[in-house]
Amino acid sequence: MLDTSHTYRAQVATFYGVGVGPGDPLLLTLKAHQLIQSADVISYIANTHGHSQARDIARFSIQARTTPVQEVPVPMPMSTERTQANAAYDAASEQLRTHLLAGLSVVFLCEGDPLFFGSFSYLLQRLSEDFACQVVPGISSVNASASALQQPLTLLQESFVVVSGRHTDKQIESALNQHDSVVIMKAGRARPRILALLRKTGRWRDGNYLEYIGRDNQRLIKDLNQLEDQAGPYFSLFVVLREERPS
Ligand SMILES: C[S@@+](CC[C@H](N)C(=O)[O-])C[C@H]1O[C@@H](n2cnc3c(N)ncnc32)[C@H](O)[C@@H]1O
Repeated sequence: MLDTSHTYRAQVATFYGVGVGPGDPLLLTLKAHQLIQSADVISYIANTHGHSQARDIARFSIQARTTPVQEVPVPMPMSTERTQANAAYDAASEQLRTHLLAGLSVVFLCEGDPLFFGSFSYLLQRLSEDFACQVVPGISSVNASASALQQPLTLLQESFVVVSGRHTDKQIESALNQHDSVVIMKAGRARPRILALLRKTGRWRDGNYLEYIGRDNQRLIKDLNQLEDQAGPYFSLFVVLREERPS
C-alpha cells in the first residue's frame, strides 16, 4: 500500500505533460498514475479515426479513477506539413487554455517521454508563459527498445546518436559511419531507404528492427534478412549496435 503522504495530486490551473511510456501500460511512473487519478481534464493527441496511442497506454490508470473526468482529444493530421500541425496546436492550446483559466488541472498524456520528439513541446511553448506547467518524464521508445533487445545501447567509449527516417540519406549515412550505436526513429515510410543505407555502410548485420514495442503486436527482428523491404508502421524504429562490443 502507498503511504498517503506520497500521493501526488494534480494542482489547480496547472498544465502537466505526463509521459506514459511506449506501449506497456505497466511502464507508467507512480507520479503519472497519480496525476491521471486526480486531474480534472485529461487530454491527448488522437489520429483522424479518433484513436489515441497515449490514451490506450494509460487506459488502466484512467479506468482506476473513482471520479469521472473530462477528456479532450486533440485531433492531429498525420502529415509532415507543419502549417496544418501548427493550426492543430493553436486550436488545442486555446481549448486547454479555457479549462486552465477555469482553474482546472489538465494532464496531457504523452506517448513515451513528453520532451523527446513529443507533441507536448508545442503545447508547452504556447501555454507556459500564462500557466504553471510541470513535466513528468516517461520511458522513451529508445530505452524500451534496448530492454526488448536485452542489449546495452552504449558501453564504455562507444558513441551514440539518434536520427530519424525524416533525415536525408546523407545525414543517416553519416550517422551510421560515424557512430557505434545509432537509433533511427520514424522508420515507417523510410524503411526501404534505411535498409539500403545499412547495406551501403556495411552496418546490415548490426541492425535490429522493432515495431509497436510493449504492445500486443510487438515485432522484434534481429536478422534484417527477415524484414520486408517495404514501408512499415509509424511506430517502428531501428537500433544499430556493433557486433563487437568493448569489454
Ligand atoms: C513522435 S516520436 C515520439 C517519441 C516518443 N516521445 C518517445 O519518447 O519514444 C514517434 C516515433 O517514436 C518511435 N516509437 C514510439 N513508440 C514506439 C513503439 N511503441 N514502438 C516502436 N517505435 C516507437 C517511432 O520511431 C515513432 O515514429
